[in-house]
Amino acid sequence: MKKTIIIIVAIFNNLLLITAMYSCQVSHKVISKSGVQLWAENCQRCHNTPSSASFSPEQWETIGMHMQTRSLITNEERNKIVEFLKQ
Ligand code: HEC
Repeated sequence: MKKTIIIIVAIFNNLLLITAMYSCQVSHKVISKSGVQLWAENCQRCHNTPSSASFSPEQWETIGMHMQTRSLITNEERNKIVEFLKQ
């Protein structure tokens, strides 16, 4: 009886570990998205975005902060998008 419980607990722990590892993999995918990918996914929802040449690097910084509040992206995502648009 005791052995059965130990085996069940061991299986349950393995399942937890597998789930945790899988969710890390998923969030890693989000983190590894490039600026251009994030820009394409977040910045064309409401309007056609102007080309990166339309604004200066300083203006893109301001626009990034302005549009972050509209598109509800994280600071990290905004930085990647702004870096891409400054090029
Ligand atoms: C929820 C809708 C929405 C999303 C998502 C959005 N925008 Fe906007 N954007 C607007 C609106 C509305 C305006 C007009 C200015 C205002 O009222 O804020 C605007 C204006 C702009 C302008 C004109 C300059 C300015 O700051 O007013 C640029 C450039 C721009 N957006 C770029 C972007 C980029 C880059 C992203 C992605 C990070 C983005 N937008 C995501 C709604 C959005």
